[in-house]
Amino acid sequence: MVKAERQPAQILDGRVTADQIKQEVAAEVRRLLAQHGVKPRLAAVLVGDDDASAVYVRNKVRACAEVGIVSDQRLLPASTTTTELLALIRKLNQSDDVDGILVQLPLPREIDEASILEAVAPAKDVDGFHPSNVGLLAMGRPRFVPCTPAGIIELLDRNQIEIAGLNACVVGRSQIVGRPVANLLLQRHATVTICHSRTRDLPAVTRQAEILVAAIGRPAFIRGNYIKPGAVVIDVGVNKITDVDDARALFGGDAGKRIEAIEKRGYTLVGDVHPVEADAIAGRRTPVPGGIGLLTVAMLMRNTLQAAKWRRGL
Ligand code: GUN
Repeated sequence: MVKAERQPAQILDGRVTADQIKQEVAAEVRRLLAQHGVKPRLAAVLVGDDDASAVYVRNKVRACAEVGIVSDQRLLPASTTTTELLALIRKLNQSDDVDGILVQLPLPREIDEASILEAVAPAKDVDGFHPSNVGLLAMGRPRFVPCTPAGIIELLDRNQIEIAGLNACVVGRSQIVGRPVANLLLQRHATVTICHSRTRDLPAVTRQAEILVAAIGRPAFIRGNYIKPGAVVIDVGVNKITDVDDARALFGGDAGKRIEAIEKRGYTLVGDVHPVEADAIAGRRTPVPGGIGLLTVAMLMRNTLQAAKWRRGL
């Protein structure tokens, strides 16, 4: 008898879902303008000259233009003090024109990040990082939900992946992804395990997961032996690799384009999940790039629209 070849993991394309969400937001933005004369506005604050952060903010500003949200970029030098940034946040809080405020993270080390995030008016906190929004989410009464975690749930829902009752494992306990996505999965009735650098026998724990979320920040950290056969693997990592041999090992048959990219611009992007090994074991997985990152931006658009509506009681 001929043994059936196992199909590689199905790729969960972030672009399709992100485009759907952006189209829905765009339609609602048009309606707000036509019926209420309201045009949502997002203030995007970038401090310092981190290359990756600059790219992320540019992508967010571009998405605003796509959906009809006005964006207001505030680019500040790396020398900005906590006091100066607080003054800007207060001004944006008070400005009646501004619906959403986004402070791109990470901030320069010298700035007191916690006090900045606490200063953002909770009603304009479209990133969901203010303690009151974090607390509401932890209580199961979400208001503004952080964009990447919200995008992960949206991607699962729109691909008909049932969450209730499944074992979900989140690797990483950051404020931006790990903790909030664990809360959201719990709210959707998954059995949730959160793993981190002190977890003993990590692969044994992650291998129990039907939904595995990798948010560690280490290239290709999740290997084949970490994955339960057939699992849905959500890769939140965005890491640069610069070595051609690494690219060959990680991308197998797809390495050609990656090597070209390294030769042309010096790097290619890889997630926290080993793509070739995951393809051999997982049922579905999100790619990097083209996966969760696109959903983060789409959900920011949705949160900003929501802020504009809530602020006006619509
Ligand atoms: N840095 C990494 N992810 C995010 C995000 O979702 N929002 C902001 N403001 N900064 C980030």
